[in-house]
Amino acid sequence: MSSVTKAVITAAGLGTRFLPATKATPKEMLPVVDKPAIQYVVEEAVAAGLDDVLLITSRTKRSVEDHFDRAFELEAELTRKGDTARLDLVRQATDLATVHSVRQREALGLGHAVLCAEQHVGHQPFAVLLGDDLIDPRDPLLPRMIEVQQRYGGSVVALMEVEPAQIRLYGSAAVEPTDTDGVFRVTELVEKPQTAAPSNFAVIGRYVLDPAIFEVLHTTPPGRGGEIQLTDAIRALALRDEHRGGPVHGVVFTGRRYDTGDRADYLRTIVRLACEREDLGPDFRAWLEYFVAKEMRGRSDSGGPDEIS
Ligand code: UTP
Repeated sequence: MSSVTKAVITAAGLGTRFLPATKATPKEMLPVVDKPAIQYVVEEAVAAGLDDVLLITSRTKRSVEDHFDRAFELEAELTRKGDTARLDLVRQATDLATVHSVRQREALGLGHAVLCAEQHVGHQPFAVLLGDDLIDPRDPLLPRMIEVQQRYGGSVVALMEVEPAQIRLYGSAAVEPTDTDGVFRVTELVEKPQTAAPSNFAVIGRYVLDPAIFEVLHTTPPGRGGEIQLTDAIRALALRDEHRGGPVHGVVFTGRRYDTGDRADYLRTIVRLACEREDLGPDFRAWLEYFVAKEMRGRSDSGGPDEIS
């Protein structure tokens, strides 16, 4: 069975949930503490052994491409100042992996964005990661998905159990158990179900796909929201046998995930990760405790540590 070596990271969406911040700045470049969201995603791919990374970007996402390129002027200035710590930070993104990019000319949907990777990917199974969807590195998911793909063949999606009221925001999967704990056979998929959902298993932003997905995507009509949906194409693979790109399995994820394309989740992510940082955490936590206590008391905000730092 072919091994998985390539990662496709999609970052060509319009990011309308985060307007006006995303009018001229890609949502993937919004800082999560002090690193753009998409750098976490590239780091995750590399940690899973996928160091051939293809970014799907668009005309307005130039800064995403630039972030993984050399920054000669900045590097020269930091070198001149002898600021090696910051120089290392600047070079980190460049040295991570071989990063390629291709532009999606029109935001026709996630399925269409993945189709833009066809030439680069070729005939091997490959991983897809959404550029604004972060998985905490302490809860690795992709290595498990690759393992499952190698065992069962076909494609693998990541499933997360969500509250029934939330499932309409995701793709929802009907599943059957397999002989492996936490791994299900996917029998049906519905993108953002508006009425009865097949289950509370939501499809989240990690996929390991059989290259047959491309042939399906070529003929997948626009679905929900008038977009070419990846979910619809994966559904077609789920109904196929192993000689034609099937089956599709789901790996259940119970770890920490941060949807940085959603404003509320973005804020929670930053607070959580900042609290956990060795350099920023202690002072930030102290301020946060003070701030929350003050909010709880509903008092005026004079005289606290928030005025100092
Ligand atoms: P989203 O559903 O988050 O859509 O896309 P969006 O346009 O990026 O953001 P909102 O909903 O308007 O705020 C899921 C993933 O698919 C990519 C996005 O970049 C994100 O990684 N995508 C979506 C594309 O690459 N191209 C598209 O045409 C649509």
